Amino acid sequence: MLTKEQRTQLVEAAQKAQGLAYAPYSKYNVGAALLSANGKTYLGANIENAAYPDGICAERVAVFQAVIEGERQFQAVAVVTKDGGTPCGSCRQVLAEFGLDTVVLIANAAGQVKQETTVAGLLPGAFGPSNLSN
Ligand code: THU
Repeated sequence: MLTKEQRTQLVEAAQKAQGLAYAPYSKYNVGAALLSANGKTYLGANIENAAYPDGICAERVAVFQAVIEGERQFQAVAVVTKDGGTPCGSCRQVLAEFGLDTVVLIANAAGQVKQETTVAGLLPGAFGPSNLSN
């Protein structure tokens, strides 16, 4: 259960991350902040490339950064865009790998939470690790 303070801090961290985005092509800056079960926050921002498909989304940068630091379990992720856009399908899938119960806070650039859901809510019927365990 996230406290009000944790929610505020996570959205503020995602706003900070949005400022780190490198998105000269789309000009759609995205910031993400991922709160691990250990209470640490990992930032991500979208990083685009002149070879367009080689860019990567904010959420995946945050997840990969956390995983490389040894994290595998997450409480919540906040995503900030100018219009409160929701995570793309690939990011939903990558988040689902590490838990369907992760809370997702979707906010606009002013930090207003437009939608609060979970990874399961964003990706019903997810294909995941359990499909491959035998
Ligand atoms: N983007 C993200 O960072 N996260 C999403 O979930 C949706 C899209 C980025 C990718 C690209 O740099 C820009 O937003 C426009 O698609």
